[in-house]
Amino acid sequence: MPHSQNPLREGLRMERTPEPCTVVIFGASGDLTKRKLLPALYNLELERLLPHAFAVVGFARRPITDADFRAQMLDGINQFSRNRPADPAVWDSFSQGIFYSPGNFDEPEAYQRLGQLLDTIDKERGTAGNRLFYLATAPEYFPVIIKHLGEANLTAGPSGGWVRLIIEKPFGRDLASAIELNRIVHTAFREEQVYRIDHYLGKETVQNILVFRFANGIFEPLWNRNFIDHVQITVAESVGVEGRGGYYETAGVIRDMIQNHMMQVLTLVAMETPAAIDADAVRDEKVKVLRALRPIAPQAVDDYTIRGQYGPGISGGKPVPAYRQEPSVAPASPTETYAAIKFFIDNWRWAGVPFYLRSGKRLPRRVTEIAIQFKQAPLQLFGHAAEAMDPNLLALRVQPDEGIALKFGSKAPGQAIKIHPVKMDFRYGASFGVEPPEAYERLQLDCLLGDATLFTRADEVETAWAHITPIIEGWQASPPTDLPNYEAGSWGPAAADEMMARDGRVWRRP
Ligand code: BG6
Repeated sequence: MPHSQNPLREGLRMERTPEPCTVVIFGASGDLTKRKLLPALYNLELERLLPHAFAVVGFARRPITDADFRAQMLDGINQFSRNRPADPAVWDSFSQGIFYSPGNFDEPEAYQRLGQLLDTIDKERGTAGNRLFYLATAPEYFPVIIKHLGEANLTAGPSGGWVRLIIEKPFGRDLASAIELNRIVHTAFREEQVYRIDHYLGKETVQNILVFRFANGIFEPLWNRNFIDHVQITVAESVGVEGRGGYYETAGVIRDMIQNHMMQVLTLVAMETPAAIDADAVRDEKVKVLRALRPIAPQAVDDYTIRGQYGPGISGGKPVPAYRQEPSVAPASPTETYAAIKFFIDNWRWAGVPFYLRSGKRLPRRVTEIAIQFKQAPLQLFGHAAEAMDPNLLALRVQPDEGIALKFGSKAPGQAIKIHPVKMDFRYGASFGVEPPEAYERLQLDCLLGDATLFTRADEVETAWAHITPIIEGWQASPPTDLPNYEAGSWGPAAADEMMARDGRVWRRP
């Protein structure tokens, strides 16, 4: 069926366009700008979702010209954009609004020059004094940039324009540093101006958790401890650390994936129905989940968590090195590349229902999935046939093969009663016939529109750290002695299976 005739595509167009504005990217010479941010803005332009008056300013240390910067960005779009290569006509007009402002992050004059450039752009391009500052630098530069934006009076737009700030991850590395970073941010910006980005929230299928739960009447009555046995959230990656060993050594899977992406997914799965789908109401409910999460004390980490690190193995049919042999990784590194954590949410909806989270590098395949396993039927009428039956399971597949599957038992044809698991499977690709936009498209557009629903609020990020920090402390107090403890290309350490087995459960093989 041609796309134009697909009724599911109706209503997919945006109703709103952002106001005229300029996006300033700090750290414009970095990988993120070239691979993600500019390609996302270009795709928004291609789909006519950007305002008619729009500009981008790259800010970084290298002394390059506007023309150099434009060429680099074109190169990035041609390599990494969802729609590529760049359409010459679209690029031609879009690139005229791209500028570069060289400077050191700690040089006050650089911010004066930036301010003057922004004023000129406002005059010449009609961007109306509205500005979005995007901190895409390494995290150690966040405080100094924020301080100088404040001192250069750039935190309020001229002639009543708005100013917003996007902050990339990681937001702090423990509770104390996250609180301190929030304090610094709030010396220059009001919380309503601040957009802490977590790209998992920009994924279509993660947003669909809200639609699935709160736009349909049939699931929510089952979404609680009366019907759900447990929840498994898996974010598996087949890649290793991809040349980011230096960074990864300071993060490990707990800071890289769990504190941010997985905790966000957990809150969406577990939250109560918000009063409205808006930034305050949704984030209030997400924070309530985090507040109800049962703390894991440092002394109890071994009861609730499993750590792993990959050794050598086979990935994608090829031999791959151990984590400790990756560039910039210490030969005896204790950094974990896999973790499984059992959380409980102590509220009326979820009391007693475990939420098992696991994430790892160099697992057999890339898959992000939320599996809701339901309790068995209260009475078994089919004797042995039913005892062997797999429990009902709802799998929300975030990536790849985005979709939702419901597994239940069905009578296999024949005279005897034999129960076989069968699946109802909804696939995004097949139903909608369109490729979903990239997370960075959705999130940059939301910020330009002033919608913070899919961004992390100050109290949310701190509450997530309040749970993760004691786990990190517990791990540091008892360094593992068995690393590496899983082969690259396997499903993680045996201890993670044993943790499940102790609870009478098994990990799904997604
Ligand atoms: C990033 C992590 O935040 O998320 C990476 O730093 C990880 O280590 C990536 O590979 C995974 O994102 P995605 O969108 O590929 O699932």
